Amino acid sequence: MGRIGLLLNQRFPIYSALPITNVPLLLQKQVFMSQSSSDHAMQGWELIDSTPIPGQATELLLYKLNEELSISVRDGGVLMSTWAHLSEDALAEIPCRKIVNRNQPRVLIGGLGMGFTLTATLHCLDNNAEVVVAELVPGLVEWNRGALGEYAGNPLRDPRTQVRVGDVAKVLREQRQAYDAILLDVDNGPHAITRKKNNWLYTSDGLTEAYRALRPAGILAIWSAGPDREFMQRLQKIGFKVKQMRVRAHQNDGNLHAIWLAEREP
Ligand SMILES: C[S@@+](CC[C@H](N)C(=O)[O-])C[C@H]1O[C@@H](n2cnc3c(N)ncnc32)[C@H](O)[C@@H]1O
Repeated sequence: MGRIGLLLNQRFPIYSALPITNVPLLLQKQVFMSQSSSDHAMQGWELIDSTPIPGQATELLLYKLNEELSISVRDGGVLMSTWAHLSEDALAEIPCRKIVNRNQPRVLIGGLGMGFTLTATLHCLDNNAEVVVAELVPGLVEWNRGALGEYAGNPLRDPRTQVRVGDVAKVLREQRQAYDAILLDVDNGPHAITRKKNNWLYTSDGLTEAYRALRPAGILAIWSAGPDREFMQRLQKIGFKVKQMRVRAHQNDGNLHAIWLAEREP
């Protein structure tokens, strides 16, 4: 996530000391000082809405500072912001360039977040594509149908988009050889933060289901805050041909995120 979330997130303490030049000064200060959702409230972020996470005792919080929006898990990490989304775009662009010429490409995205990965997917693919986006939190889908949706250009209004409100793990298990690409960005990497159950997605069982849900030569792309050699090896053991890429969060900041491109055999 080129997300403020990452900058706010304790997992990137070193990178968060690097300069960000094109962010308003007040926002830069918030970025460097904030560490959790409760800090948002203390440092001038205005809480504008909240919505429950199904099956969890916690909720998602939507904050605003100047013109930027940010989504946090209450008492947890920041999930996403409108400020920096180059790596969320890359999560879509890199695999979609490889599948654009396939016959009626089908893509599964989990989850929606602020819609940047969805928008980048739609930009890359032609009118014959089909894009299924699975989002766990119904209220977040509603935010994207309202003012939040404008930040990514309202991708839910695109006729190629199908929204599935629910767990992406359930959608993965439903069909075999169904997708040319599966783009996963539901946590901050291969460790659950939105909810513990997400950990299954990163196990050998979860990755095997993803492999089966892909068409031959289909690509599983997974976003992460940083590299993880053990996880890469797990992907390889399933039978994927794996490449790890480093991508920037934002043109002007030093954060480097990781994307794994895991390709099923042709
Ligand atoms: C970091 S955000 C995604 C950011 C997105 N790539 C973008 O461009 O804005 C993670 C999203 O995944 C959703 N999510 C978390 N667990 C999920 C699951 N098991 N199934 C579907 N969506 C999930 C969260 O509610 C949140 O909307």
